[in-house]
Amino acid sequence: MLGTFSYCNPTKLYFGEGAVRSLAGELAKYGKNVVLVYGGGSIKRNGIYDEVVGILRECGKNVAEIAGVMPNPTLDKLYEGMKIAREHNADLLLAVGGGSVCDYTKALSVSVYCEEDPWEKYYLRFEEPTCRTLPVGCVLTMVGTGSEMNAGAVITNTHTKLKIGHVFEDESIMPRFSVLDPKYTLTLPHYQMVAGIYDIFSHICEQYFSGEDDNTSDYLSEGLMRSLLVSSRIANKDMQNYEARSNIMWTATWALNTLVACGKSTDWEVHMLGQAVGAHTDATHGMTLAAVSLPYYRHILPYGLKKFVRFAQNVWGVDRAGKTDEAVAEEGLQAMEAWMKELGLVLHISELGVTEDMIEAVADSTLVMEGGYKVLTREEIVSILKESL
Ligand code: NZQ
Ligand code: ZN
Repeated sequence: MLGTFSYCNPTKLYFGEGAVRSLAGELAKYGKNVVLVYGGGSIKRNGIYDEVVGILRECGKNVAEIAGVMPNPTLDKLYEGMKIAREHNADLLLAVGGGSVCDYTKALSVSVYCEEDPWEKYYLRFEEPTCRTLPVGCVLTMVGTGSEMNAGAVITNTHTKLKIGHVFEDESIMPRFSVLDPKYTLTLPHYQMVAGIYDIFSHICEQYFSGEDDNTSDYLSEGLMRSLLVSSRIANKDMQNYEARSNIMWTATWALNTLVACGKSTDWEVHMLGQAVGAHTDATHGMTLAAVSLPYYRHILPYGLKKFVRFAQNVWGVDRAGKTDEAVAEEGLQAMEAWMKELGLVLHISELGVTEDMIEAVADSTLVMEGGYKVLTREEIVSILKESL
C-alpha cells in the first residue's frame, strides 16, 4: 500500500430489523425544528412515513416537510427546499428514502445558508462550504448509492443537462446517523433492486480498477464483490430473502463509505459516462452504469491487464491454466456479463432513451477522470458510447 491518506467516518449506523427504534435517541440530540425530506410517495404506501412521523411526534418535534424529491434530484428542487428549510429554521434535516433523497438532503445542508448560488459554488467550482451547514440524518429505504455513509451529493441541472456529484471533503457533511433496516427495502420493485445491486458493484470496481501496488483495499473490494455475487443471485430469485437483502444493504454501505478508496487513485469514469447518460435521459442511475460498463472495461482492459486478470481469478473464479493473460481477463468480463444478464440489467443505452444523434451531446456532458488506467480522449468517449448503444 503506497498511498497516503486520512480516514474519518463519523456516521453512526443503526442496522437491522427494527433499527428505526433508535431514532428517538438520535432526535433528542437536536433542536425542535426538523425538516422531513422524502421522495415521490413510496414511504406513504409502505408505512415507513407513518412510523417515522409517529416517532417525530412522540419526541415533540416541530416538523416541516419537503416532499416529492425525484430520482436524480434537480437543482430547481434544491432551490425550493432551501426556502422551506430556512423558513422553518431547521435544526435537523431528516432524509427518509433512497440515495436521491439522502443526496438531496446533504446538498440542502450546505445550501440553506449559502450566500452564493450553490450550483456554481459546489458543482461548478467544487468548493467546500463556508457557511453554516445543517446536520443530516437518514432513514434508508433503497440500497445502492452508499449515500447513507458518505459525503456525496449528486444534483442534476436540467437546464444545462449536467448531472454532477460533489463529494465534500468536510466529513461533517456526512449523515450524523443512518438507520438501515433491510425490511424497509423489501417493497422495492425488482428493477430498482437490481439497479442498486449494480450500483454497488460499480462503486467497488471504480475504486478497484486503479493503481498497481499491493493494496489491502483491493482485497477488501474482492471480498465485498464476492459477497455481493452470492447475495444478488439469491435476492434475484427470492426478493423477500431477508438475509440476502441485508447482506446487500451492508455491502452497499461499505462499497462507498471511503474505506475501499484508501490508498487508491480511483477511476470513476463509468460514473461520468453513466451520469452523462442520466443527464440526458433521467434514467435510473444503476442502469446507466450497467449500460456503459462492459464497453468501457473492454476498452481499458489492455491498459490495466494485470488487474483484469486478478479480477477474473479472484472475483469470478476463472482458471488461469494454459491461457494467455488477455484470454483470462476477457473470460472475467464474460462472467460479469453473464451475471448482469442473469439479473436483468440494462446493457444498452438505447434502451434508456439514447439515440445515435444524441451521442455527441452525451459526450459533451461526460467529465474525464484521471485516476484510472486510461485517461479517455473525446474520440474514445464517443466510441465507447457508440458501442454502448
Ligand atoms: O420517490 P419514491 O416514491 O420514494 O420512490 C423511489 C424512487 O422512485 C423508489 N423507492 C425507494 N425506496 C423504496 C422505493 N420504492 C419502493 N419501496 C422502497 N422501500 O425507488 C426509486 C429510486 O430511488 P432513488 O433514491 O432515486 O435511487 P438510488 O438510491 O439509486 O439513488 C440514485 C441517486 O443517487 C445518486 C445517483 O446519481 C442518483 O441521483 N448517487 C449518489 C451517490 C453518493 N451519494 O455517493 C453515488 C452514486 O454513484 C450515485 O451517483
Ligand atoms: Zn453509483
